Amino acid sequence: MPILNRAAELQDEVTSWRRQIHKHPELLFDVVKTAAFVADKLREFGCDEVVPGIGRTGVVGIIRGHRPGNRTIGLRADMDALPLNETTGKPWSSTVAGKMHACGHDGHTAMLLGAAKYLAETRNFAGSVAVIFQPAEEGGGGGNLMVQDGMMERFGIAEVYGLHNLPGLPAGEFAIRKGPIMASTDEFSITVTGRGGHAAQPHRTVDPIAIATQMISSLQLIASRNADPLQSIVVSVTKFNAGFASNIIPDAATFGGTVRTLKPEMRDLAEKRLREIAAGLAAAHLAEAEVRYVRNYPVTVNHAAETAHAIEAATAIAGLDKVDPETDPMMGGEDFSYMLNARPGAFIFLGNGESANLHNPNYDFNDEIIPHGISYWVKLAENRLA
Ligand code: NI
Repeated sequence: MPILNRAAELQDEVTSWRRQIHKHPELLFDVVKTAAFVADKLREFGCDEVVPGIGRTGVVGIIRGHRPGNRTIGLRADMDALPLNETTGKPWSSTVAGKMHACGHDGHTAMLLGAAKYLAETRNFAGSVAVIFQPAEEGGGGGNLMVQDGMMERFGIAEVYGLHNLPGLPAGEFAIRKGPIMASTDEFSITVTGRGGHAAQPHRTVDPIAIATQMISSLQLIASRNADPLQSIVVSVTKFNAGFASNIIPDAATFGGTVRTLKPEMRDLAEKRLREIAAGLAAAHLAEAEVRYVRNYPVTVNHAAETAHAIEAATAIAGLDKVDPETDPMMGGEDFSYMLNARPGAFIFLGNGESANLHNPNYDFNDEIIPHGISYWVKLAENRLA
C-alpha cells in the first residue's frame, strides 16, 4: 500500500499550515501561538477532547474510533523553533528576527495535524488516538514535563510513537532501529582554581590554564581508554574561558561542553571518570576543581515490539526497499526519550531528501514528504487499534 489517497489530497492544506507555523517561530515553552493554532485545528476537526496546558504549553487531542476499544496510542510531534536567523530566502521565511524553524518541528506539527484531521474524519479504529504536541524539545525538556504532568495516566496511553525528519535520507524513506537510536545529552563545566600572579614568575603561581588544558586532553581518554571500543562515548569541550592580560596568570579557568552516550552504563562511566580526572589532576597540581555535571535528556531507546510495529507501518507506506530497519544510532539527543521511558514505543526518521542540515540557518522542511508522514501516522494508528 503506497501513500493514502486522502493524505495526498491533504498535502496542499497541510503545507499551508506548515508554512504558517514556519513564519511565526516560537522558542522552548513559549509556543503560545503555535499551541493555540494546534488546539483550534483539533477542535475544528471534531476531536473528542482537546486539552491545552499540559507540560505548560503542550496540547493533547483525543480522537475516539467508531469501533469499541479501550486502548489508546499516542502519536507525538514537537512545536518549538531555534534561536537562529533564517537565511533560506523562502517566501514563508521566519518573520521573527533571531528565531526560525531550523529543525523541521513546523513540519512535524503540520503532519500530525494532517493525521488528526484524517483520523477524525474516518475513525476507522477501535479505541483512541492521542495526538501529542509538545513544547521545548530543543533543550527545555517539554516532553519530560508532559510526562510529569501525568499525561500517560490521564489519557490511558499504552504506546507512544515519535517521528523526526532527516536531511540526507532520500525524501519519503524511513530509517529506524530497535534499542538506542539517539544519545543522552549531558552538560558539564569545570572550574579550575589555582593562584594567579606574574606571567614571568610562574613558579610563584598555580597556573589554572596549564592544569585545565591537561584535563581537556585527559577527558579524551574516557572514550579512547576507559570505554569498551565497541561502545560509544563522545566528550566534546566546547567552551574555555580564562585570563584577561598577556602578562598575568589568572586565578581560575573554566571550561565546559557535552557528553553523549548510547547506554546508561556508559553514561555512568563517563560522568564518574570525568569527575575523577578533574579531581585527580587538580590535586596533582595543587589546584582545586569544581565540577558541575547536569544530566539532560536520557538515551532514546526504541522498544523492540513497537519498533517492529513502526517498521510494518512504514513498509506499508514506502515499500520494503525504502525502510532501513537497522540504521546507525546518532549522537544527537531527543526529549522523546522521556516518553519512551514512560511507555513502550518507537522513534522513526523520515527522509527530508538532500537539504541543509538540521539546526542550519539554510534548512527548510521538505513539504513533499508531508503525505508520507501523514500516511505513516494513520497506518500506524489503524494497525495498532485494528
Ligand atoms: Ni528536532
